[in-house]
Amino acid sequence: MKVTVVGAGAVGATCAENIARKQLAEELVIVDIKEGLAEGKAMDMMQTATLNGFDTKIIGSTNDYAPTADSSVVVITSGLPRKPGMTREELIGTNAGIVKSVTDNILKYSPNTILIVISNPMDTMTYLSAKASGLPKERVIGMGGILDSSRFKYRLSEAIGCSPNDLQGVVIGGHGDTTMIPLINHATYNSTPVTNFLTKEQQESVVQETMVGGATLTKLIGTSAWYAPGAAGAYLVESIVRDQKKLFPCCVYLDGEYGQKDICIGVPVVVGKNGIEKIVDYKLSSEEQEKFNKSAEAVRNMNNVLGEMKLV
Ligand code: 2OP
Repeated sequence: MKVTVVGAGAVGATCAENIARKQLAEELVIVDIKEGLAEGKAMDMMQTATLNGFDTKIIGSTNDYAPTADSSVVVITSGLPRKPGMTREELIGTNAGIVKSVTDNILKYSPNTILIVISNPMDTMTYLSAKASGLPKERVIGMGGILDSSRFKYRLSEAIGCSPNDLQGVVIGGHGDTTMIPLINHATYNSTPVTNFLTKEQQESVVQETMVGGATLTKLIGTSAWYAPGAAGAYLVESIVRDQKKLFPCCVYLDGEYGQKDICIGVPVVVGKNGIEKIVDYKLSSEEQEKFNKSAEAVRNMNNVLGEMKLV
């Protein structure tokens, strides 16, 4: 099994390292546009093989996609990260061209791959990759919801004072500061609604802190976060290559599900060896559905920019 990660920046390298440490592939290719960066990071990671006990062969490539040929899964992390005060959406002008060209290059060598998109603005970049690749909709997956759900569970665990691993929680909608929807009424603490343990104010604050989770980190670090985004990418790769059929939210192409068509946005899905194996209907309340519709409208407005840029 071969897996490729495009982009050897902080998110790409962290994702690759998690893939290697979990032994999710026999061969792992890292590609980057910057001369020597992917080769250097691949070599550095290979020098941890005996320390971390993995057998994955990691190679790096500067802008040559030939070594990626026949990848089962490709993770796209390319593009600029956020700077403090910036929204993910502001990255579209630069990142859309990059993601389009990466998608085209990948498809030349791996025409049947499963594409995972992490680049921002993630929902629009997933839509772009879906359109540019022409792959079946099950094979193009945006990562955002896994990351946002993990941040949601972290915030819940801090508010309740419990282990994040005892929590179940899902964030749907767009991967934007104002478009994501942490489904607090569906979240549980070992099968008990989390709302039993939190006041209304605490619930609102958990939801709010989850939504600006990426921005909070960007402000602290000075650039986009990478540990959780990279780990979330690898978590998604794992569900595919191990055919785990896990249920979590991802950004996928909707064709009527959740009342939306011709859009990529976060909904709960089952992920296995074929990519998206099922879109799961969470039976949203009318208030949740209304938020979802608003989120879809914002994501669709961003997608329209791709048309103006003549990329779709
Ligand atoms: C984040 O939320 C990079 O979009 C990513 O941290």
